[in-house]
Amino acid sequence: MKIVSTVAEVRKYVKEAKKQDKTVGLVPTMGYLHEGHGSLITKARETTDFVVVSIFVNPMQFGPTEDLESYPRDLDKDAAFCESLGADLIFHPEPSEMYHEGFSSFVDMTVLTEELCGLSRPVHFRGVCTVVNKLFNIVTPDYAFFGQKDAQQLAVIKHMVDDLNMDIKIVGCPIVREEDGLAKSSRNTYLSADERKAALILSKSIKLGNETFAAGEKNAKVIIDKMTELINSEPLAKIDYVKIVDRLTMQQIETVDRPALLAIAVYIGKTRLIDNCYLD
Ligand code: PAF
Repeated sequence: MKIVSTVAEVRKYVKEAKKQDKTVGLVPTMGYLHEGHGSLITKARETTDFVVVSIFVNPMQFGPTEDLESYPRDLDKDAAFCESLGADLIFHPEPSEMYHEGFSSFVDMTVLTEELCGLSRPVHFRGVCTVVNKLFNIVTPDYAFFGQKDAQQLAVIKHMVDDLNMDIKIVGCPIVREEDGLAKSSRNTYLSADERKAALILSKSIKLGNETFAAGEKNAKVIIDKMTELINSEPLAKIDYVKIVDRLTMQQIETVDRPALLAIAVYIGKTRLIDNCYLD
């Protein structure tokens, strides 16, 4: 496995792989990798011949009061993890390699980015769409792999690829959870021991919402109210949103009569965590 930091080096190795008729898979990440990322790398390994993992904490997708500076980083550990899963190449650029002086082109999206995390984090998806476009242009993958934990991001990327006629297959991979149910996230490392216990309220409320729907409840408000009550019973939790949206448009729905997404964002102390499940 090689670790490179320039666009030119990535292009060189990808070109060599393509010359040998290898298919290329990209797993875009911000590093501090956990088993959730591991499942994406494993899926990429199974699906494609040459697996590129990008590790880049993208400044453009963080708002001014967000955790860009404190976002956890550990390249050595990430590299060992990627190697153990059979990745071929890590792309770990400096911000200046991705955004040279005078950088002024962006990829933006309406509708799908207007709800959920797009409401609470207004610059987020413009940053995600721009960096993912750049990574797609640099790596030119046949397949790219994203986690369903960021369900809105996955929907946005699929939509962007379709809107802009990109010849890349987007593969969504299921949420990976800790044994007690907490969705794996690099941000879980911010939690104190008490907060870690309190954070279970996210997966518990998702389970409650899913079970309520499975028992026949189609009224979104009834499902949301039940979940809100449960989350509010946890003193360390503060709700950002609890919503049910159409799975394709990411717009809120009143009745769950089509493929839908149940999504929540909750602050546990200062840490904002997300979780979701599909309602079919
Ligand atoms: O999901 C992430 O880690 C990031 O949003 C991504 C897709 C790597 C873009 O920076």
